[in-house]
Amino acid sequence: MIHIIFALLLGTVTFAFGGSWNIPLAANKVSNPVPKNEETVAKGQIIYNKHCVRCHGLSGGGDGTDQKVEYGLSTIMPELTDGALFWKLTVGAGKMPSVARELTETERWLVINYLRTFNDDQKVESR
Ligand code: HEC
Repeated sequence: MIHIIFALLLGTVTFAFGGSWNIPLAANKVSNPVPKNEETVAKGQIIYNKHCVRCHGLSGGGDGTDQKVEYGLSTIMPELTDGALFWKLTVGAGKMPSVARELTETERWLVINYLRTFNDDQKVESR
């Protein structure tokens, strides 16, 4: 009996914490090897429009047609390092599929540079 209770407890704990995003510390610290500039952002935008818009919507607002994402990307971006984003794109994040097979590593870094502009836009609008 005690074993069953223990198993249930463990299951609950694993569900509660294992399901959330335990980004390895090393991955979190990896820096983006692709500099963010007009050219790389433009390339990232092309990748985003091809691979991400259908779920995340044009400006990451979650208004994609295939699958509605409940929150806007710009709301979570400030909390995440480029390394964390890269890790999530590579392994997937919850209901978000891994894009490792469709995007090369460089393409993943490029799209991250574009994702960063969602927050730039916000700053411009609030001025
Ligand atoms: C098939 C639909 C789909 C596609 C395609 C998709 N995403 Fe997502 N993405 C999601 C969903 C759903 C979530 C929310 C995951 C969750 O909270 O469980 C998400 C979450 C995210 C997150 C936030 C992860 C977090 O910290 O919670 C980022 C960043 C992201 N997506 C970037 C991208 C990028 C960049 C692309 C294109 C290369 C992309 N996504 C393509 C469905 C998709």
